[in-house]
Formats: sequence, C-alpha cells, structure tokens
Amino acid sequence: MTSVNLHGETIEIPDPLTLSSGQKVVSVQDWQTKRRPELLELFRANIYGRAPVERPRNLKFEVVGVQKEAMNGAATRKQIKLSFSGPGGQGAINVLLFVPNRITGAAPCFVLINNRGAKHTDPTRQVQSPFWPAEDLIARGYAAAVFENADLDPDVDDGFKNGVHGLFDARDKPRAGDAWGTVAAWAWGASRVMDYLQTDAQIDARRVAIVGHSRGGKTALWAGAQDARFALVVANNSGSTGAALARGKQGEKIAKINSGFPHWFSANYKKFGDKESELPVDQHQLLALIAPRLLYIASATEDAWADPEAEFASGVAASPVYELFGRKGLSLNSLPKPETPLLDGHIGYHLRTGKHDLTPYDWARFMDFADRHLPRRL
Ligand code: GCU
Repeated sequence: MTSVNLHGETIEIPDPLTLSSGQKVVSVQDWQTKRRPELLELFRANIYGRAPVERPRNLKFEVVGVQKEAMNGAATRKQIKLSFSGPGGQGAINVLLFVPNRITGAAPCFVLINNRGAKHTDPTRQVQSPFWPAEDLIARGYAAAVFENADLDPDVDDGFKNGVHGLFDARDKPRAGDAWGTVAAWAWGASRVMDYLQTDAQIDARRVAIVGHSRGGKTALWAGAQDARFALVVANNSGSTGAALARGKQGEKIAKINSGFPHWFSANYKKFGDKESELPVDQHQLLALIAPRLLYIASATEDAWADPEAEFASGVAASPVYELFGRKGLSLNSLPKPETPLLDGHIGYHLRTGKHDLTPYDWARFMDFADRHLPRRL
C-alpha cells in the first residue's frame, strides 16, 4: 500500500509499483512486462470487463463522403463508415473527421467520444456546439474526429442485447462476471477508430488524442489504458470509475454508480459497492497504465459529484510511475486554483470554474498541453 492526501485525510491506496506478489517494481522493464499486464488484468476482471474480440478480421473502412471546402475552406470534411460483423449480426461506427487544409503533411488529431448525441456534431457546421468546438481545433492545426458512443452500444440497461454485446457475446452461456460492460464497448469503438486513423494519410497516427467527457472520460481512460497507440488521453470531469480515486471519494461512489448505471461496468464490480477498500486496484493505477504517454485530467469547481480533489489526488498517486520512466507526472502535489492549468509534466491538469461540462476553455487547455508535449515528427 501507499498513501495520498485527500479531503484533509491520509488515504491508503494500493501501490502501483508493487506487484501482487509483494515484489517491488524497480525498472521500466518490470513495469512493462509484469506490473502493467497484471494491472490491466485486474481492471478487466473487477471493473470494466473483458472484450471478447479485439480488431475484427472483417473490419472495413469506407469513405462515404469528402468535402474539400468545409468550414469556409479551412478544413476537409470526411465521413467514414467502419463496419464489422460478429455472430450476432452487423455493426458500424460512423466517424466524422475534419482535417485542417493549411497543414502540409499529416495532422495530429483529437478524437472525441461523443456521449451527448449527434446534435453536438453537426457535419454541416450550421450548428456549432461548444461541446465539440471543431473550428477551434482546426484553427490550431489539429484534425477533429468524433464518433457517437451509441454506435457501439446504446446507453441503456438492455440486458446487453443490443450494440456490440449483441454482436460478439456468446449466446449459449450465462453472462460471465467479467463480461464487458458498456464503457468497455465504447472504449473498444475508440480503438477501432484508431484502426482507421492509422490508414488515413492525412492523419499522423502517432499524435492522436482520445478525449471524453464524464462517462466518455471514463471511456477515454479505459481505451487509453489498453491501447498504447493513443499518444494523449484526456479525461474531462470523469469522476467515479474515471480519474477519481474510489477510496476516500466524495460525491458518487461505487454503490451509487452501479445502481444508477448497472450496464456500464462488469457484474463483478457490483461486489465492491460500499467496499472500496476491498478492490485490488484504485483509479490512480488506471491512470498509471497510460504512462509514459501523455495524460490530461480536467475538473470543474461545481462538479462535487465527480469530486475534483479525488481526480487530482489520483494524478498525484499515478505520478511515481511516470517518474520510473524518467518523466514528471503532475507538476504540483496540491490542487491548483481554478484557471491555473498545470501543463509542465506528462500529466496535465486544470480546474475550471463552473459546472460539469466540456467547454471551449477545456478544449483550449487540452490543445495547449498537446502543443507543448506532442512533438511534430516528420
Ligand atoms: C451521471 C453519473 C456520472 C457520469 C455522468 C455523465 O452523473 O453519475 O458517473 O460521469 O452522469 O456522464 O455526465
């Protein structure tokens, strides 16, 4: 165990740098070959559940539309259909992508997991939602990609009949305690979008950020923890079972999230309601799985349900793993004041004044962080 300060108390949390056997992790090699696989397995088995497939062999990409003079000539709009099938039928993810026209060579890209519906992602740009300020991304030289989480799985407790669960899950057996939940299904979709981006010559696949807000933030973290192709992971207001530590957390706790959203996580996670201290992991170890890649955590002052202090403390507790790689994690150990972003370390952080939301202010800080740390590789 190790400890961290949270809400004025010292909280005991599992040590990211000690193997279950008790052996200490002293080298990057120990981390990569022993601890990282062990932690991934613990998160799969106890929290998010296990996806039955990775990239389906029949995954197909079809560019269904290209408009070269979108956003008054600033961007090229591409619409791509990713399709696949499993024993339960056909599925598809529709990706909307804007690429800056002024960039020569491949552009870095921010991919948003959209959990708020297609009204925020108007391809015509007649409606420009502050939730996805694609024009701002283009203006700063980033490609902007988005997909709807509902393409993977509707956000309802449907007994895992619909979405990719219905396509890939075995039908003849009872559902296992570690079968994937809806957040894992959405994260699986993020990796399929990455599969596509790697084939698009206009995108620099080594400089792709995955971004999510709230339930989408939980998803971005699980996608980024598993899939090392994401160079930057951004978790905005991700709260419970996202960036925030479970132990010592205020606002939403494990029992609450499992009763409110029984479909998000594995059945095994239900065992830990009001028993946070029995979990073999805590969320700082999820953050650590992203090391040494870039991670950005964002909180909002009026988001007590997510618990900004628990989100920040988790970043503090993940930092020793970045240090093992010779990188700075968070650059401060105590919660910064609002509108004082921490951009120096490989874990970025800001606290925004206001409500639970994803805003142009948040996006601008994510881009500041990427400008600083995602080097242009020619
Ligand atoms: C609910 C839920 C949170 C989640 C949020 C959201 O408030 O309890 O865990 O993050 O919805 O996705 O907006």
